[in-house]
Amino acid sequence: MSIANVAQLVVLRICNPTVGGSSPSVGSTKTVNCTMCELSMRPFHLAFPVSDLVKTEAFYVDVMNCSTGRRTPKSINFNFYGHQIVAHLVDQMPDNVKSGRVDGKRVPPFHFGIVLAWNQWHELRDSLENANVDFRIKPHIRYPGKIGEQATMFLDDPSGNSIEFKSFRDDKKLFATVQGSENEIGGGKIV
Ligand SMILES: [Fe+2]
Repeated sequence: MSIANVAQLVVLRICNPTVGGSSPSVGSTKTVNCTMCELSMRPFHLAFPVSDLVKTEAFYVDVMNCSTGRRTPKSINFNFYGHQIVAHLVDQMPDNVKSGRVDGKRVPPFHFGIVLAWNQWHELRDSLENANVDFRIKPHIRYPGKIGEQATMFLDDPSGNSIEFKSFRDDKKLFATVQGSENEIGGGKIV
């Protein structure tokens, strides 16, 4: 099975159980609209700035395990879990240092990433730790005991773009919320 197909399965499982409609979110009386299920999964496209294409290619191929696609002297396409991300060479990187706090950690406001299956996230964490990569935010569980409980870790590419890998024990929790907890960090306690 290709990486793209795996990514499709992951997202379709996120959208379960009611393909083609709305499904109740766990622990909530609200419903989650699931437009992606109706359309089936399509690859997203993300373009991002980088300051060095050689270092960028080394990072995304060797550390992130991406394959490469088309390229120009100023850009490279990468296959990121079946999605198309494109690094564009710029003279000056935009300021991404003013990070906000999420669950007590400083998180850069611009970042991208992927929601992995629970075992997939742990396998990646182990391989990144074994490779001694520098995490921006070390692997940990965010919002423990709350509806939004998730495993997360961040690392930066050589240009300072942050990539987040996250995972939920139950994919249906991705958009789950507890009614009346709109202002509560982590989406409210599981009751
Ligand atoms: Fe995030």
